[in-house]
Amino acid sequence: MQPTIANRRALYSQNILKLGLFGANCSSGRAVTQVPERWSGNWPDCLRLAKMADDAGIEFMLPVGRWKGYGGDTDYQGETFETVTWAAGLLAATHRITVFGTVHAPMFHPLVAAKQFVTADHIGNGRFGLNVVCGWNQDEFTMFGADLRDHEARYRHAQEWLDVIKQAWTSDEEFDFDGSFIQLKHVRAKPKPVGGARPIIMNAGASPTGQAFAIRNCDALFSMTPRGKLAEFAAHVARAKAVAHEQGRELDVYTVAVITCRATIEDAEAYYRHCVIDNADWAAVDRIMAMRGDTRERWPHDFEERRLHQANGMGGVPITGDPDIVAHDLAQLAAAGARGIALSFVNFADELPYFCDEVLPRLQRLGLRAT
Ligand SMILES: Cc1cc2nc3c(=O)[nH]c(=O)nc-3n(C[C@H](O)[C@H](O)[C@H](O)COP(=O)(O)O)c2cc1C
Repeated sequence: MQPTIANRRALYSQNILKLGLFGANCSSGRAVTQVPERWSGNWPDCLRLAKMADDAGIEFMLPVGRWKGYGGDTDYQGETFETVTWAAGLLAATHRITVFGTVHAPMFHPLVAAKQFVTADHIGNGRFGLNVVCGWNQDEFTMFGADLRDHEARYRHAQEWLDVIKQAWTSDEEFDFDGSFIQLKHVRAKPKPVGGARPIIMNAGASPTGQAFAIRNCDALFSMTPRGKLAEFAAHVARAKAVAHEQGRELDVYTVAVITCRATIEDAEAYYRHCVIDNADWAAVDRIMAMRGDTRERWPHDFEERRLHQANGMGGVPITGDPDIVAHDLAQLAAAGARGIALSFVNFADELPYFCDEVLPRLQRLGLRAT
């Protein structure tokens, strides 16, 4: 398929519900667990997983932009691959799948970034995607000798950063850029992205400012589905799409789910309990909660529930059950308006084949996937 903007946005598939894998570039992936089979995140495993996902028609891989582990007993996400180079390697080894880079705007010079993205895009013949993040974790920024800007300024900077990148991708003329944060002179950037259309861009802002940024600039907004509140998620999707339409833009909303799929409900629930409760890396969970300012005082009524949710997969809807239940719950997210879902598993490569064998055909029968 040609790398037009429509094909890029459709992630090169006709499927109504797009599926992706989230966080495979990090040790432990997204499950804050000590179980020995937890995801390694090493290169041979990432490569094996990407090829497997590509063959199965999974549409995308979304890495986590993370520079420093969270500590705890496993040093949760202590080993992480830089996401653009990771994407470039996987794009070279695959044929259909879109691979995102998750890029902290404050940490990459926009012209270096624009050229990295174009390079990955050429390697993948139009299958590179950009997830812009502004950062939230001062600890990580301190490691760079940098201060996290205040929340609003972070997004104002990201706006300039993305404006530069889009201009570098499209402008045939030399240009200057005179922003509040970024000043550039006589910019020339060649080659352009493959096929005359820019890479798909996503953002996962949750605040009003973050969401407005995504609506204004991006093709996709990634939003967590609030626990047990599908109707609230549906309203959020409708609202975000309506605001985008008012601006003459199309926006897709994606969400995140954590899958434990086994032949029986009992087996799935037992494995979930084993990983996420009995063997959670609680020391890492508590550090993450502290970094986010999530204290018992702040959440007196549901602190323990929030802790559990964090161990489950750093947030994301937990979907635990047999293939019928998993397919049903994914279909409900689609019915609520999710264009796609970024999935994680305790061990991606061990668990993906069963998911593809059992859940994908059910999603086909539900009319959500053709292939
Ligand atoms: C699906 C998803 C992926 C995200 N990936 C990252 C990431 O890799 N690195 C990061 O620093 N933040 C990541 N975030 C955090 C968001 O970029 C954002 O900072 C967060 O949702 C808070 O929103 P706000 O910036 O509007 O306050 C992610 C959030 C979601 C929902």
